[in-house]
Amino acid sequence: MLVMAYGRSYGLPVITTRGNNVYGPNQFPEKLIPKFILLAMKGQPLPIHGDGANVRSYLYCEDVAEAFEVVLHKGEVGHVYNIGTKRERRVIDVARDICKLFNLDPDNVIKFVENRPFNDQRYFLDDQKLKNLGWSERTIWEEGLKKTMDWYTSNPDWWGDVSGALIPHPRMLMMPGSSDGSEDSKVMVNQFTESQSKMVVPPSPRSSGTPKKQNSFKFLIYGRTGWIGGLLGQICEKQGIAFEYGKGRLEDRSQLVSDIQTIKPTHVFNAAGVTGRPNVDWCESHKPETIRTNVVGTLNLADVCREHILLMVNYATGCIFEYDESHPEGSGIGFKEEDTPNFAGSFYSKTKAMVEELLKSYDNVCTLRVRMPISSDLSNPRNFITKIARYDKVVNIPNSMTVLDELLPMSVELAKRDCRGIYNFTNPGVVSHNEILEMYKKYIVPEFKWSNFTLEEQAKVIVAARSNNEMDASKLKKEFPELLSIKESLIKYVFEPNKRV
Ligand SMILES: NC(=O)c1ccc[n+]([C@@H]2O[C@H](COP(=O)([O-])OP(=O)(O)OC[C@H]3O[C@@H](n4cnc5c(N)ncnc54)[C@H](OP(=O)(O)O)[C@@H]3O)[C@@H](O)[C@H]2O)c1
Repeated sequence: MLVMAYGRSYGLPVITTRGNNVYGPNQFPEKLIPKFILLAMKGQPLPIHGDGANVRSYLYCEDVAEAFEVVLHKGEVGHVYNIGTKRERRVIDVARDICKLFNLDPDNVIKFVENRPFNDQRYFLDDQKLKNLGWSERTIWEEGLKKTMDWYTSNPDWWGDVSGALIPHPRMLMMPGSSDGSEDSKVMVNQFTESQSKMVVPPSPRSSGTPKKQNSFKFLIYGRTGWIGGLLGQICEKQGIAFEYGKGRLEDRSQLVSDIQTIKPTHVFNAAGVTGRPNVDWCESHKPETIRTNVVGTLNLADVCREHILLMVNYATGCIFEYDESHPEGSGIGFKEEDTPNFAGSFYSKTKAMVEELLKSYDNVCTLRVRMPISSDLSNPRNFITKIARYDKVVNIPNSMTVLDELLPMSVELAKRDCRGIYNFTNPGVVSHNEILEMYKKYIVPEFKWSNFTLEEQAKVIVAARSNNEMDASKLKKEFPELLSIKESLIKYVFEPNKRV
């Protein structure tokens, strides 16, 4: 801001760049990557502040230097350019990657220490403006990390005695051998001194232990036989993401632990849940079974994931809201992520709302509120369109809905971006039953006819009440500006591909 003020006041030709988390050879070891490399070389524990879930955008130093050059020659005076990367990494994953390079067992080497105050969760920069000048990130993570490690192992004494910087919470960084006095730093400093002579030699490039380039993601998915779980597997196959389905039942903690320890996932997706057959009315007469999976099971999985420092993407429901005085039908005012559920008309919804509330205490969970899901597969009886096209009579109420073909890939992306908290996982806007059936008639069956009935008449043929609402999808739209409105999405993803007329 001061530079901009000088530029404007005195006509100085200034351009500002904003970067973060640069890494590479020669960096002072107070920074995470050189610190962990030096500690790994000495066979020392790698101390992680908090749970290591903080995310950083690491960029290799040569790429950043190139960005400066591009900005210098092509940038516009008076402008600001972000130097960033879309590829974010959790601190815990950086530590694991360094362990891999040194053939160390992360479970033995990584130690979690007290978090530091104000440890930012994430810095994310939009670098599109710089990309428009022709710059792009060129060094892939594996390559940059390997080059960095090679430099430190070839120059182990470059920085001299930096033991003060290698302790978990360095305070007086430039004072060799200084300690912050905490118990964990004392232990680590002692271990450091004791094992100065035991340098770990990284595997040579041609040795059998050579680290291989790996796909950085491995997903563990629950709900193999289910609709959403099945579609998720197809998306992973299409995107070339390694994945496996969980074998465990959600209510059995030991089976979940065993899945995670065998599969070693980077992310867990919970598309398992009791949804009731033929519909949610089943839950009214099977309350313990519903609780066992949807409450006990979901919490179990979140807890096990937290213990293993894993993000859990949870396919939850938006059927925990109903139109009310503050959110009247047709008003365009949707329920937001932070709103308190106001619909408990069915046992299914009641338990889902309870679990959602409890999951707020888990910072490793991304809750996606799915609603009245629709897919391009019109032969699937679970598809909302297929359901209402088969009913004798339908109510006619505008609702928020989820077009799975468009949104499920976004849930994969949310996981990759390490997004947490609650998201209304619906397309923006609402569509009514009659509007959908009009489209069905226009694109699929021209002679299609249906008749409506009122909510009161509907109540006579179902056991539990159903929720009708509008959800505010602006948080999701902010994350994915390309997200289509519900009507556009229905046409693009469902009706155009199935067009028969
Ligand atoms: N479809 C919807 O209308 C809708 C709307 C909003 C939200 N959601 C939510 O999205 C999630 C997935 O929905 P879906 O439509 O894909 O459900 P689905 O087709 O009914 O599939 C449910 C899956 O959960 C598994 N499962 C059930 N109990 C389990 C347990 N105790 N342990 C492990 N796996 C278990 C089932 O496996 P088994 O066959 O082996 O039991 C099945 O694979 C659910 O939580 C649901 O509430 C769905």
